Amino acid sequence: MRRVLYPGSFDPVTNGHLDLIRRAGRLFDEVYVAVAVNNDKNALFSADERMAMLRESCHAFSNVNIVSFQGLLVDAINNYDANAVLRGLRAFSDFEYELQMALMNRKLSEDCETIFMMPSADNSFISSRLIKEIAAFNGDFTGFVPSVVVDKLKDAIKNRA
Ligand code: PNS
Repeated sequence: MRRVLYPGSFDPVTNGHLDLIRRAGRLFDEVYVAVAVNNDKNALFSADERMAMLRESCHAFSNVNIVSFQGLLVDAINNYDANAVLRGLRAFSDFEYELQMALMNRKLSEDCETIFMMPSADNSFISSRLIKEIAAFNGDFTGFVPSVVVDKLKDAIKNRA
């Protein structure tokens, strides 16, 4: 049984994340999408809200589970008995940070392997940070996120203002 853990903030989930989850689901027996709790004190959505949006967006994928983790990623890998970490690489600019994280995680736990996958070109410019910025300035972000996120993001931005 090959299980990959896909960690992230997912604040909120985007079509880029879903692209990666779909691809990983074809390669692995199980994909655990792991929402980092307390990773970012300025997160727009609570961990529960982020997980709920992920759950709804992934309901069609039979081998995908939505979980959360606190603390170190290497501990989550052990707790969830995963074989590898999955991370997305969109552009070359992602590489330096991702390489640093992958090598540090391997230093912390020598069995920790990180697998990188690229989303489709259409999804490779999407990031949660940009989506939130577009939403905050009333731009049209609807093509970049699953439908469950659209109203929730508009409401969250409105409530924060
Ligand atoms: O979606 P993000 O914000 O790029 O995800 C980053 C995340 C949550 C994967 C990373 O910050 C993380 O693994 N945090 C857990 C704490 C940890 O293990 N830090 C050491 C990494 S070498």
